[in-house]
Amino acid sequence: MTKTINLNVDLGQRSYPILIGSGLFKQEGLLDAFIGGRDVLILTNEQLAPLYLEPLQKLVTGSNVQQLVLADGEATKTLETLETIFDALVEFRFGRDCVLLTLGGGVIGDIGGFAAASWQRGVDFIQVPTTLLAQVDSAVGGKTAVNHPGGKNLIGAFHQPLCVLADMDTLNTLPERELSAGLAEVVKYGLLADAELFDWLESESAALLRRDQERLQHIVRRSCEIKARIVAADEREQGQRALLNLGHTFGHAIERCAGYGEWLHGEAVAAGMCMAAGFSERLGWIGAEDVARIRALLTRFNLPVDPPRVDPNEFLAAMSLDKKVIGGEIRLVLLKKIGEAVVTADYPSHELLDLLSERFIH
Ligand code: NAD
Ligand code: GLY
Repeated sequence: MTKTINLNVDLGQRSYPILIGSGLFKQEGLLDAFIGGRDVLILTNEQLAPLYLEPLQKLVTGSNVQQLVLADGEATKTLETLETIFDALVEFRFGRDCVLLTLGGGVIGDIGGFAAASWQRGVDFIQVPTTLLAQVDSAVGGKTAVNHPGGKNLIGAFHQPLCVLADMDTLNTLPERELSAGLAEVVKYGLLADAELFDWLESESAALLRRDQERLQHIVRRSCEIKARIVAADEREQGQRALLNLGHTFGHAIERCAGYGEWLHGEAVAAGMCMAAGFSERLGWIGAEDVARIRALLTRFNLPVDPPRVDPNEFLAAMSLDKKVIGGEIRLVLLKKIGEAVVTADYPSHELLDLLSERFIH
């Protein structure tokens, strides 16, 4: 059993805590201060309901607690599902003072958060992330969205939760592939902001893959500390928050070219970070030994380090759909060194196509 860590996302009146620990679902009264006897809709999916719905329900002492169990998977993150959620809220007659509670990974958190952002022009919500990826990334920071056939996360809003409850015990049931996908996002934090974390991941990789709870708690804590600091400084991604997208411009193109659902988000980010590292090396910013270290760590975490074989022009077209593109310029997050990243469009444009053609996609 690990001791609970309480972090704060500092956003003035919209500040909120992130509680990270084990046995949290058993701590009676833990959510009382946030729910305060209001109506609650718990949103979860078919995979998680049998595992965690009952213990969580005991923690939620609203006046009228309802649940909605959605289908599992990225394909659920649509406007149609959003309508299903609104239909339930209408049926339950839940008003502006209700609270939505999302129990699940990034899919449930993103769609539930967006439902909360838009129901009656915005109601409170609580994130209970159950994947490593959601605990280290998606549950924190207030980005909520659904997908459109034209692209991922195209319809959404910034809407911060009331609190984030990351119970480490839920990671025990997480499939191995999902654990690795979450580890990719942790490597991302090391690369963009914390060289010490990167070194630590190299030395502790075996224990992390064994799911040593103290070490898992350490990476959730460190990742949330870094994310909370960046979000507090730039909530709406006018500047430095874009650093959190290291590997994502390449990664989103991988997801798109491979067909959504083939690669997990974290897997695409892993290969995407290797591409960003390769490009940084090509520009002379980091050395070949850094690129080798990054690839070795991700390989150790059972993650892909190369993109699928696709036509370079098709890949470039997919990259140009990224939300960071401004005035047609593809802004990339690149590495100055391990532990320091920059957002830049300041590179010779032919270099990107050359990189794709020569080094990654044959
Ligand atoms: P996910 O929500 O699909 O969860 C992965 C799988 O694990 C699902 O099958 C789920 O049912 C299952 N699962 C979840 N917790 C489990 C547990 N404890 N035990 C057993 N099975 C469990 O995927 P994800 O990787 O958590 O999230 C990916 C989504 O998050 C994507 O849609 C991505 O766009 C989004 N995302 C959002 C942000 C953000 O800032 N909002 C950041 C990163 C990713
Ligand atoms: N996952 C990137 C962000 O929250 O900004």
